[in-house]
Amino acid sequence: MANGALISVSNLAKIYANGVGTIPVLQKVNLKIFPGEMVAVMGPSGSGKSTLLFILGLFLHPTRGSYHLAGEDVLKLDRTAQAEFRRRRVGFVFQSCDLLENSTVYENLEFPLIYAGVDRRERPARILAALEQVNLEHRIHHASNHLSGGERQRVAVARALVNQPQVILADEPTGQLDRSHSHLIMDHFAEIVKKAETAVVVVTHDPEIAGRCTRVCSLDDGILYEG
Ligand SMILES: Nc1ncnc2c1ncn2[C@@H]1O[C@H](COP(=O)(O)OP(=O)(O)OP(=O)(O)O)[C@@H](O)[C@H]1O
Ligand SMILES: [Mg+2]
Repeated sequence: MANGALISVSNLAKIYANGVGTIPVLQKVNLKIFPGEMVAVMGPSGSGKSTLLFILGLFLHPTRGSYHLAGEDVLKLDRTAQAEFRRRRVGFVFQSCDLLENSTVYENLEFPLIYAGVDRRERPARILAALEQVNLEHRIHHASNHLSGGERQRVAVARALVNQPQVILADEPTGQLDRSHSHLIMDHFAEIVKKAETAVVVVTHDPEIAGRCTRVCSLDDGILYEG
């Protein structure tokens, strides 16, 4: 693993093109995250926090720069190998939740388990355990489109946890939650980073949530600063 870092990013840039011109969102991002760390990423709306998280989650390719995840030079992998790497290592909480509509909470959580090849008989207990972590076991057979905003967010967190990933990338995972559920989720993240070789990155606008992290970074004008 590169210097023991789980995530190692250097001179990362992302410039979007939208037909009219180019939008340089990330200009220079250097970031190393070690096992046991829970890192908050803050910054104004539109500063590129989700863009950075998408790159870290291998959903988006940067314009330049290098990225090692768990020691692997992941930008050199083809898309299939990246998807496989993500499936094995990463739990991603989308800012928009991105639940499967017309499916139950159970099915939303079962999907990543099927994808990871987890035995059918093992799945119910894993799903229930993940839902218990977000206080949502009573909604297990609920249709995902009948959930409240905060419940959807908690399902999105449970879905990211269900595969016991090495790296959790969570984009404003508490944005729609009350204080006690926000802290419940941060408690679980704190538990997870105590385990060997795991790390969590949390994008947040909430200083209280950032204060629960072991380190805080801020994006401003495309540059990532510590603190
Ligand atoms: N696919 C895209 N094409 C062009 N521009 C984009 C694209 N995706 C994002 N942007 C622009 O890049 C900038 C950064 O977007 P991003 O979603 O990363 O911001 P953010 O920091 O997550 O904001 P928020 O706090 O509102 O979620 C924004 O100005 C956005 O309009
Ligand atoms: Mg965002």
